[in-house]
Amino acid sequence: MSRNSPGPIAIVGAGGFVGRHLAARLQRDGLAPRCIARDPARAAAVLPAGADLRAGELLDGASLAAALEGVDAIVHCAAITADRKERYPGEYRRVHVDGTRTLVDAARARSVSRIVLMNGLGTRPGKAGSYMRTRWEMGETVRQSGLGWVALQPSVLFGDGAAFPAAFARLSRQLPVMPVLGGGTRLQPLWIEDLVTCLAMACATTRWDGRAIDLGGPEQLTFSEMLDLIMDATGRRRPKVPLPLPIARVQARLMSVLPNPPLVPATLELFDFDNVTELDAVPRNFGFQPRGVREHLREHGLDG
Ligand SMILES: NC(=O)c1ccc[n+]([C@@H]2O[C@H](COP(=O)([O-])OP(=O)(O)OC[C@H]3O[C@@H](n4cnc5c(N)ncnc54)[C@H](OP(=O)(O)O)[C@@H]3O)[C@@H](O)[C@H]2O)c1
Repeated sequence: MSRNSPGPIAIVGAGGFVGRHLAARLQRDGLAPRCIARDPARAAAVLPAGADLRAGELLDGASLAAALEGVDAIVHCAAITADRKERYPGEYRRVHVDGTRTLVDAARARSVSRIVLMNGLGTRPGKAGSYMRTRWEMGETVRQSGLGWVALQPSVLFGDGAAFPAAFARLSRQLPVMPVLGGGTRLQPLWIEDLVTCLAMACATTRWDGRAIDLGGPEQLTFSEMLDLIMDATGRRRPKVPLPLPIARVQARLMSVLPNPPLVPATLELFDFDNVTELDAVPRNFGFQPRGVREHLREHGLDG
């Protein structure tokens, strides 16, 4: 069902990777999104010129209530991604669960009608105390919010500024060998611009409301095959060595003393299961064919 007279769409986490690509698209589509970021000056550097930029911190209800005035729908892209360490114990829970509850409360107080949530493919309850549990509860908070909601849950993303391919390109510069995490774990990479098309469509209609939709591109690759593609794109071939998950977990725990460790325990939770869905998830749900990662990296490199 199409929405007749929607007010502005607010992007929470607008300075992040997904948020800024979505902001650019909505701006190009003439929708003038409200861009909410906890550090507006930093976000301004990556957002389109003239963006309607407001300050909003997930843990500060007053800032969110002010930023959401007059907004009709929210796209919630603010989170701590699984490659980042917690700055203090419990930060994942605080941001994902308490922060999302604060956002939902502010949205209800401002009569926002809908929320489109960015979550990860295969988000599940997970073990108590795990990163995954906080992402599941983030979803639960939105599902039980009383607002109209839809959650988009992609596999790993690629395209201009994507963190995952960039991290492994960096490792190929720094290390003589490439660690192959998690044996045969499979991924189904999705192009950021295709995700943004799905998000824009989810903003424009209520037809998917009440669903958490797993998304992936047209190819499923093992992590090892993904590393090959990244190394081909950088022109730096390194021998690959298997890094079994139990050893990787020990390494991640040891590295947690570093300020920005290259490996964190939360990342390894994503290797506990195949990060894939149906190959036709995008065409079946959104009616278009997404771009493949092989073709993209061959023609555009890592940042295209
Ligand atoms: N990238 C992927 O491959 C991928 C794949 C599947 C799902 N996702 C999901 O998509 C969403 C967006 O990911 P992303 O790649 O765009 O990550 P990102 O670039 O790290 O962006 C996350 C944003 O959240 C903001 N944020 C974090 N804590 C906040 C807080 N307390 N208050 C307000 N804002 C806060 C960050 O602000 P600062 O810039 O100030 O830190 C940043 O702008 C996440 O839920 C992620 O798990 C991403």
